[in-house]
Amino acid sequence: MKAKSLIQIAKPSLGKEELESVRKVFRTCWLGMGSFVYEFEKKIQEYLGVKYAIAVNTGTTAIHLALASIGIKAGDEVVVPSLTFAGSIQPIVALGARPVFCEIEPDTLNIDLEDARKRITKKTRAIIVVHYGGMACDMDKALKIGKRYKIRIVEDAAHAFGSFYNGRKIDSFGDVACFSFDPIKNLTCGEGGCVTTSSARLAEILRRKRLLGISKDTWARYKNKKSWFYEVVTEGYRYHMSNVNAAIGLAQFKKAEKFIQKKKRIVRDYDNFFKSINGIELLKRNYRETAPFNYTIRIKANRDKFIKYMQDNGVSVGVNYIPNHIQPFFRRFKAKRLPVTEKVWKEIVSLPLYSDMTVKETEKVKNLVKKFIEA
Ligand SMILES: Cc1ncc(COP(=O)(O)O)c(C=O)c1O
Repeated sequence: MKAKSLIQIAKPSLGKEELESVRKVFRTCWLGMGSFVYEFEKKIQEYLGVKYAIAVNTGTTAIHLALASIGIKAGDEVVVPSLTFAGSIQPIVALGARPVFCEIEPDTLNIDLEDARKRITKKTRAIIVVHYGGMACDMDKALKIGKRYKIRIVEDAAHAFGSFYNGRKIDSFGDVACFSFDPIKNLTCGEGGCVTTSSARLAEILRRKRLLGISKDTWARYKNKKSWFYEVVTEGYRYHMSNVNAAIGLAQFKKAEKFIQKKKRIVRDYDNFFKSINGIELLKRNYRETAPFNYTIRIKANRDKFIKYMQDNGVSVGVNYIPNHIQPFFRRFKAKRLPVTEKVWKEIVSLPLYSDMTVKETEKVKNLVKKFIEA
């Protein structure tokens, strides 16, 4: 049975402000990277309190660019949780390096740093920590491991724009943090991402690599007298953000805090409702510091049947994520045993969460879940 109107698992909140902002770009006739992108970067820097933000076209390219810029190369190993989006893994593979899959903590779905530590070898150059659902990983512990083993700590903060860790906004506690502004993130550019760092040297490398290894970007060139001149000085990609995407992001900036507060309220409401239901296990949350991206629970019931039931009743739910070590293409990296990941992923399910959700919609989700689990 197909329901008439589907409650989506996630969707962006868009209005006339975003359209007006894009209209401004049209009026300038400069669609590529330009003043809107630089203004967006400035806004990110102010909002996060970070020195440098380099805007790119997706969260995945942010990770690729970050890894390339800290020197990850063929033959290196990068430790990364298996339970993450493929966008955390493909950039490692693209550089010819090997993803070494590690475990997650079953109650937060964040990286199990002790397990990650055990998987470090002579070839390990970095650990990618994923702030799952927006909740910060234990960065003190991660940085301690990085220091002790002389390896880089890269933050996949795709879920965590606006979240805090010990009172400080998540940006780049280690060398680099990578954000996503894809359509379902707390702030969207349509598609987009950025890398943040506090290192001027790294920021320069990131900027060059983002635009084909060219020493100065197009916009800057056209402002110069010798406007035709450019030099390719390093390996690079065409990963820069466009003015059109930046314009959407700029309009979203004004509403980001409102989006986050609304999603926080929904998460609390869901938790309060579900906590007394036998058969549902809630994740451990930090309500104060987390700007929630998704809402994931663990259920003991048959998950496939649950997903079908929700879908049949007009509610879209999902699984964040199918572990990467069991994905056909990544099996070649022959992960060592991951019993926690393999148990937990079969139980997780993500329910709808977006800032425009109405009370009627959240009530419908809550009641359907309860009905199924208690049946
Ligand atoms: C954990 C994680 N890392 C990386 C990415 C990649 O971001 P993008 O979709 O902007 O490429 C995502 C996207 O959802 C993600 O969830």
